[in-house]
Amino acid sequence: MQLTHTYIPTMKRYLILACLTCALSATAERINIDDNWRFAFGNTDPAKDFGTGTEYFNYLTKAASIHNAGPYAVNFNDSAWAEVQLPHDFVVDLPFAREASHSHGYKTVGYKYPATSVGWYRKHLPINASDSLKRISLTFDGIFRDSRVWVNGFYLGGEPSGYAQQTYDITPYINFDGDNLLAVRADATLEEGWFYEGGGIYRHVWLDKRPARHITPNSVAVTYNPASAGTPTVNVSGRVSNKLHSSTPAATEEWSLTASLTDPSGYQVAEKTIALTDIPAAESESAWNLSLSPSSLTEWDIDNPALYTLRLTLNDGRDTDSEEIVTGFRRVEFDPDRGFILNGRPVKLKGVNMHQDHAGVGAGIPDAVNIYRLKELKKYGVNAYRASHNPMTPEVLAACDSLGILVVEENRLLGINDYHVGQLAKMIDRDRNHPSVILWSVGNEEWGVEWNDKGERIVRELRDIAHRLDPTRPMTVATSGGPTPVIPADVAGYNYILQNPVEQHRRDYPQRCAYGSEETSGCGTRGIYFDDRENGRMASLNRIPDSKDSCINRISRGWKFYDERPWLAGLFYWTGFDYRGEPNPLEYPATGSEFGLLDYCGFPKDEAFYLKSWWTGEPVLHIFPHWNLSGHEGEEIDLWVYSNMDEVELIVNGKNLGRKPMARNGHLSWKTVYKPGRVEARGYRNGKRVMTEQIETTGKAVRAIPEYAYSHDGVQVINVSLVDSKGRFVPDACNPVTISFGEQNNSTDETLTPCGIRLLGAGNGDPAFRGVERPATGTTPSSFTIPAFNGHAQFIISNPHACPVKIELTD
Ligand code: GAL
Repeated sequence: MQLTHTYIPTMKRYLILACLTCALSATAERINIDDNWRFAFGNTDPAKDFGTGTEYFNYLTKAASIHNAGPYAVNFNDSAWAEVQLPHDFVVDLPFAREASHSHGYKTVGYKYPATSVGWYRKHLPINASDSLKRISLTFDGIFRDSRVWVNGFYLGGEPSGYAQQTYDITPYINFDGDNLLAVRADATLEEGWFYEGGGIYRHVWLDKRPARHITPNSVAVTYNPASAGTPTVNVSGRVSNKLHSSTPAATEEWSLTASLTDPSGYQVAEKTIALTDIPAAESESAWNLSLSPSSLTEWDIDNPALYTLRLTLNDGRDTDSEEIVTGFRRVEFDPDRGFILNGRPVKLKGVNMHQDHAGVGAGIPDAVNIYRLKELKKYGVNAYRASHNPMTPEVLAACDSLGILVVEENRLLGINDYHVGQLAKMIDRDRNHPSVILWSVGNEEWGVEWNDKGERIVRELRDIAHRLDPTRPMTVATSGGPTPVIPADVAGYNYILQNPVEQHRRDYPQRCAYGSEETSGCGTRGIYFDDRENGRMASLNRIPDSKDSCINRISRGWKFYDERPWLAGLFYWTGFDYRGEPNPLEYPATGSEFGLLDYCGFPKDEAFYLKSWWTGEPVLHIFPHWNLSGHEGEEIDLWVYSNMDEVELIVNGKNLGRKPMARNGHLSWKTVYKPGRVEARGYRNGKRVMTEQIETTGKAVRAIPEYAYSHDGVQVINVSLVDSKGRFVPDACNPVTISFGEQNNSTDETLTPCGIRLLGAGNGDPAFRGVERPATGTTPSSFTIPAFNGHAQFIISNPHACPVKIELTD
């Protein structure tokens, strides 16, 4: 794939924006404030929650009263609290317990654990006197969950949902030219989903400084009319706010708004300035819109995700506000007969569902890891991502734009009241300019109502609301099955063909657009071929027939079904990566799901190669199981090959088991008796041998080979493979692996700061892995050891100076 746009992380984009505008008088500035927070556990019992709320006058009684106690009070002493950097998940290092929540991966969080379910955060924030004429706001991209926020002891409000962005205007509470105290309380006692959700400030936090008269945040919508005859049109609409105090003398100056559009190479392709009439002070807003007519545009597509930058500059004669929106232009439609149509051509959605946690870091995923995850999925042909079941982390969406991955974004809580509609509106207003988003999902498997008249009435209203909020995109609901398709979604989402009468619905409702919102992957534990369920590991269900289902390879059942029906837009496997929680059908000590095509770290399972065979044009020959089946000598083994060759021939320990034709979307298998040695697969196309792959019984692991799988903004994802003395990958090696880093600098320049490396997380893909030992506070150790699992381990480190680290086998 050729990228025409270099991914610019959100933080950097905003810094660039700030610099572009810093020569002007009062300008907009966005500052990331993830650094230097302090953290401590509180409690669900107010008496044990640093006394918060037990005061005679608490924070709800009086604003910033001197009677206030607890962590939101300015003079509270937090010197014993841990120093943390966001994104931060306070659940990730908690112990596991058999009686804890199965859906959340047996972590000791939730109503049974009042002492480890509430997290408090505090941060000091100096703000200059020169900012005193600006409007200053705080934006939290996501706090899990039921959060309350204070500045200088003033209670700003709260947000029950752990997935909604929240923004607070803090201007009147600020000490200009002084210190300011931010305090946040997050209460993860209640679960919002049925999967691991973490706890705390797990997404970025921003401080925005804007002139008092500014472009209203999240108000801008960019839409595109392709050229029917002539030039394409880009329509931009939005609102401006005047937050000057009403006693401020009225402005006499003219307001102007300039929109400039630059193409992926940074070349300006259109610009327009419009005059705005001065709007009165004190909270007024007015709407504007304009059209740009670039002479040509490159459409955003999955193979060429062309991203344009729209720069908006508001000048009121005194100050300048600016906003930069990275967007793209594409035509998207769903058709009842042709499925999903992108820029005029049918594109099958080859999708995965994803939750938002990763090995070692939990829900507090650094941007580097989010981008790594998407890039890994793309290697296997994934072109679509369903954000199940919540609004996304902004940086994930931006990376989908850059990488050409189509997105179904979901706001799950079903209802039509202010709270529900407010959540939906927050998601749509924030994310509608992302070209990757093709569908808004307003619900998933609402068993109580999805097939009755209440469900129909709720979704009918939600559909109108979604259309009003964004007239350019259809909406969907993912349903779990049922007799009649009463859900009035623009595009029907079927969770599992075994549960939904998809063909019947096609006959009854031929005008219905549809796709598979979930489909089973049939995966198990990476590298496990014999069930070991009591230890939390299981062989892939794809290799095990069951009584209900004669089809052995479930992953192919799903893809064949959707591939053979052009009227279906495609499907989303459950899931792309393993996640913590729902280790179904297993229970403790398994704590992580095994549905992923890739494990919790992103190491591929065999099924990833099934998809690679049929979802990419790359030649594939993948033989499994591996040939280190010690203890199974003399047993009959099914050798499988995932491949997209016309024919495959298999040679086991020198014996030719024959050549077999490969059916479209199929796989091949041969029976043999296990004996250590070598298996070779030969791939043929048009009768000619074009590819050979082999697996062989290896010696024991003697070395750990690190691969810097992805690095970004000082964060490195290091994937480790264990090899034997001949350099062969050892697929069953579980040796301890140690990462060590000193404070040495990779340079003789003594003015450089020390390396400052921190371990952010470590994992190995084992669903029963218990995590790395990390002290909660105090000195950070300079080495950590974890067991590898089936040949792999992963370390995620913050290494701002790219200093060398040592990774070695420890036994
Ligand atoms: C589906 C549900 C998913 C996940 C999955 C596990 O029914 O929508 O969120 O729970 O089952 O099999």
